[in-house]
Amino acid sequence: MILQYLALSTLIILYSLMFVGGYVSAAGLGLTCPEWPLCPNGIMPSEEYLIEWIHRLVAVTTGIFVVLTTVSVWINKKTDRKIKFTSTFAAILVITQIGLGALVIDLKLQAVLVAIHLGIGILLFAMVLFTVLFAFRISKSNRSNNT
Ligand code: HEM
Repeated sequence: MILQYLALSTLIILYSLMFVGGYVSAAGLGLTCPEWPLCPNGIMPSEEYLIEWIHRLVAVTTGIFVVLTTVSVWINKKTDRKIKFTSTFAAILVITQIGLGALVIDLKLQAVLVAIHLGIGILLFAMVLFTVLFAFRISKSNRSNNT
């Protein structure tokens, strides 16, 4: 079953994204790329907004991984309600978070929005972490049923 490794990869990428986000915020680089969804150079990076560009690139990658994990949870016949809830909630949160990123830029890092961005990030991390734990538990119980 690849579900647990997909979920674990999602968690690792999300963790890296939050790390880069923390750096963007602490280093005051949040408005180096003033446009959304793309930076002024289009999809290409530029030295002046490289870190912010990396944050967005990893955000898109995270979004894809979260959605792939959710889809594989739903198509897997051995999954239960708990993992369906955590993975689906994570997919909703990741889409909301990427949309909120646009507002954070548009409204020039308005403090409440940045705080909500951080809050959703933490909630998203918790949902993906639960998804990983449930996926490993399902895989373990399948292995003991087969022996
Ligand atoms: C899954 C998607 C995302 C996650 C989990 C995420 C997470 C984070 C985190 C944890 C921070 C640090 C917040 C803080 O220390 O207060 C941050 C900062 C930031 N994020 Fe994201 N982010 C995501 C997507 C995006 C997107 C798509 C954009 C913009 C297009 C964006 C724009 C920003 C900006 C501008 C900051 C810096 C805010 C500041 O200067 O205080 N984020 N992000």
